[in-house]
Order: sequence, then C-alpha cells, then structure tokens
Amino acid sequence: MEIQLWKELLDPYEQAVSELLTKFNNLKREHQKRNLYSPIESVTGRVKSVNSILEKMQKKGISFERMEEEVEDIAGIRIITQFVEDIQTVESLIYQRTDMEVRSKKDYLTNKKKSGYRSFHLIIWYQVQTIKGPKKLQVEIQIRTMAMNFWATTEHSLQYKYKGVIPGHVEHQLTRAADAIVLLDEEMSQVRSEIMDAQIDNRIQTNLVQDILRNIENLYHRENKREIAKIQNEFYRIYRLHDIDELEKFSKQLDILAEGSRAQSVDSQLHS
Ligand code: GTP
Ligand code: MG
Repeated sequence: MEIQLWKELLDPYEQAVSELLTKFNNLKREHQKRNLYSPIESVTGRVKSVNSILEKMQKKGISFERMEEEVEDIAGIRIITQFVEDIQTVESLIYQRTDMEVRSKKDYLTNKKKSGYRSFHLIIWYQVQTIKGPKKLQVEIQIRTMAMNFWATTEHSLQYKYKGVIPGHVEHQLTRAADAIVLLDEEMSQVRSEIMDAQIDNRIQTNLVQDILRNIENLYHRENKREIAKIQNEFYRIYRLHDIDELEKFSKQLDILAEGSRAQSVDSQLHS
C-alpha cells in the first residue's frame, strides 16, 4: 500500500468519529433539555494513528487486505458515565438506534481483565456517506465510568512508559488501585439516586432561569420598562428563596404574561 493512500483510507473513519461524537453529544443534550438524567457524562473519539495500526497489524499478523476487517478499532468512541448502572443504559440506547448496528460486544465488567481493566465494549457497523458513495465501517465504542476511565488512562500511560512490560511492583500497585476503583464504583452506586436527584434539580433550575430570562427579554421589547424592572426584581427575590417550586410558579406566571403580551402585540400589528 502506498503511503498517500492512508489518508484516503482513514478519511471515512474521521467522518464516522466526528458524526458519532455529534450524535452522542446530542443524546446527552436531549436528556438535559428534557430535565432527564443523562447516562452519558462525556464522549471522546479518535482515529487510530497509522503507527498504532501498523503496530497492531504486526503484532497480530494482519495483512493489508484484512486490515479494515480485523483492526476493529480504527475508529474509536469512548463514552464516560458517572455510574456503573449507566453503562447498560447507554448500551440499550445504542441497540435501539437504527443508524448503529452492533456487531459484537466484550464485557470486561463481569469479566475483568487480568490487568484489572474494566470497561464495556461494542463493535458497531456504521455507515458514512462519501463522495464515492456509502461506506459501512466498524467503530469500537468503549463505555466505562469516570473511575474506570481514570484507572485505564493511568495504566495506559504506564504501559507506554514501560513499553508493555510493567515491573512487578508497579503491576501490583495497579491491581490494588483497580480493586479500589471497584469499591469506589460500588460506593458511588449507593448514593446514585441522591446524586441523580440533585443533578436533575440543578438542571431544572438552570432551564427555569433560562426560560424566565428569555421571557423577560421578550417582554422588555414590548412592555413598559418600569414594569420590567419590577418583574426582574421579583425574579431576584424569588431566586434567593432557593425554592424550585416558587421559581416554577413564577416562570409559569411569566409565561402567561408573555403570551398575553405577544398576543396583544400581534393584535396591534394586525390592526395598525
Ligand atoms: P488491542 O490490540 O489493544 O486493541 O486489543 P484487542 O483488539 O485484542 O481487544 P481488547 O478488547 O483486548 O482491547 C480493546 C481496547 O480496550 C484496547 O485498544 C484498549 O483501548 C482497551 N484495553 C484493553 N485492555 C486494556 C488494559 O489492560 N488496559 C488499558 N488501559 N486498556 C485496555
Ligand atoms: Mg485498541
């Protein structure tokens, strides 16, 4: 294979990674907009470097002809969750989609690797549209908690530092750290519902404040400025109460006011 062909070969994978990043980020945003708890905390993605592809082919004796078939992680997406329970939620979200077809999965959660590695992997088929037509390619999706990710990235840099041969005592420390991560994930699961509630409350408040400010801004263009100042002061007063119910009540009143003002403004435009 000529070297200039690499870019052409990897371009659709770049496209897949970029599209999938957008899609998973949208999934997160959709949850937030609807005041729902998002099982996705964050998403990252990368296309494997030519160097790493070559290394893997050499290590596993993969020919150039078989490369796209056998190097399943040329395109890689990593989804980070807060809790172990969220991993399964993300998995089912992926299974439900019509634009991603699960080809295989590896469950390193129930079957932790000898190194201590824990994560849930899906290999999916994903289609991109290119100027040469559609292309179906494989993408590796790694789903893991923030704690698992902390361990895996640290261990990965050590693998790199020691070129894959980690000294015994470091390996031992890593195994102990991995055990601690299991405990941490378990502890976090215990307080999961409380944390979720707190985050949802926070999100509801964020969305409410956004709605209220939008309404005030709209009213500002139509109504008496003194009236707006009064509304704004009232908003600050209620905000300081730290009472979501009060804030919600206020937001609803403002909705009605804004609706009325809009109707009036449309009415006056029609009759002018
Ligand atoms: P690779 O050649 O490493 O891609 O492995 P594989 O194709 O045999 O598949 P495997 O399921 O073992 O690993 C897939 C990916 O999971 C790897 O590319 C890593 O990103 C990650 N991974 C697997 N094992 C470990 C591990 O022990 N430590 C860390 N940090 N990551 C791992
Ligand atoms: Mg890999």
